[in-house]
Amino acid sequence: MDLKKTNDAVTRRLKAISDRVNWAKDRDLYFYNQPITELRGGARVLVNGRDMGMYASYGYLGLLGHPRIGAAAKAAIDKYGTGTHGVRSLAGTLTIHTELEETIAEFKHAEATITYSSGYATNLTVVSTLMGRGDYVLSDKLNHASIVDGCLMSGAEFRRFRHNDMADLEKRLQQVPADRARMVIADAVFSMDGDIIDLPKVVELCQKYKAWLMIDEARSIGVLGATGRGIEEHFGLGDVIDIKMGTLSKTIPSVGGYVAAKKEIISYLRHASRAYIFSAALPPAQTAAANEAFKVILDEPWRMEKLNQNTDQFINGLKEMGFDTMLTETAIVPVLCGSDERAYALTREAQHHDVFVLPVVSPAVPDGLARLRATITAAHETDEIAYAMQVIGKAGKEIGII
Ligand SMILES: Cc1ncc(COP(=O)(O)O)c(C=O)c1O
Repeated sequence: MDLKKTNDAVTRRLKAISDRVNWAKDRDLYFYNQPITELRGGARVLVNGRDMGMYASYGYLGLLGHPRIGAAAKAAIDKYGTGTHGVRSLAGTLTIHTELEETIAEFKHAEATITYSSGYATNLTVVSTLMGRGDYVLSDKLNHASIVDGCLMSGAEFRRFRHNDMADLEKRLQQVPADRARMVIADAVFSMDGDIIDLPKVVELCQKYKAWLMIDEARSIGVLGATGRGIEEHFGLGDVIDIKMGTLSKTIPSVGGYVAAKKEIISYLRHASRAYIFSAALPPAQTAAANEAFKVILDEPWRMEKLNQNTDQFINGLKEMGFDTMLTETAIVPVLCGSDERAYALTREAQHHDVFVLPVVSPAVPDGLARLRATITAAHETDEIAYAMQVIGKAGKEIGII
């Protein structure tokens, strides 16, 4: 098809993206999919031949490259090969799948667990399998895209409450007709802002209005709680979340997603969720890596302590320099820039000085709230963080952000 000959909606969409990409490339501001050619210890990477400090990683405890996790993955390949025989229910369940699910259930103090091949697929399939037409899903406005997509796919009435605004959540719960099933869904730690959902209040409202509660712990495992078990541990609450969803692709250096919950819920999902029934099982190496990673978190508690120290150093240092780090309390540290152009410029300066950070611009965040989304891990050393802050501070002054 000659694109120039038509001007339909598809052609316009293609052109809008290609114009934006070309605009950024022309100005040396294109940071999409930069290839990392090597992992150099936990906190350094080789990007385009340059050794850089890594400030964009989701591996908050620095477990990527951990020898025990690598060894577990290699042993699983030797034992099972590189793939499975098919979907879990028909031919693909391996003992390592069951082991991983038991490990997660124990880690999360839950009765049972089910795993899926990605965190994105987990949210899509779990929300749309539990909720359906006529039900109500109430979702925080800043929830991850996979939750939004799961809500839309479910066909349920989809209501978004103002970000972490418990008065607004209560108002919306009051609007749900008495005979309808309702579920409240929120990220534990918000992926662009780094702030934490007010779990105690959400739990209170869910109990008051008899709503199911699903919390996405993609960014709370290995980040929140004294032992990294997540948001319930952080708030000193027991087993208060009905559906504890998480990913195996961030602190856990593998791939996949899970739900930990009561046995009845897990059994229902195992027999009814389409991403489980119609999609191949997690590969053995990734399953074994994830299984070992949960054990390493508990065996190496210094990682949580180091992460907390590093996070404090970074957030406090940036604030002292005059940066706005929004409401973050965690290792996800937004460095507010304002316009997309400023966020791009700060990224370019940082990368030119070997600090690997990336910008988040509209439409991923609202216009005017473009930012660096810097992340801190347990693998960073104090002097490395000081250097990164110095680079970001100097560039921030030159660009007029501080
Ligand atoms: C809150 C949240 N949920 C779900 C996902 C999707 O997880 P995955 O990348 O494992 O598919 C992400 C990924 O960034 C996330 O931040």
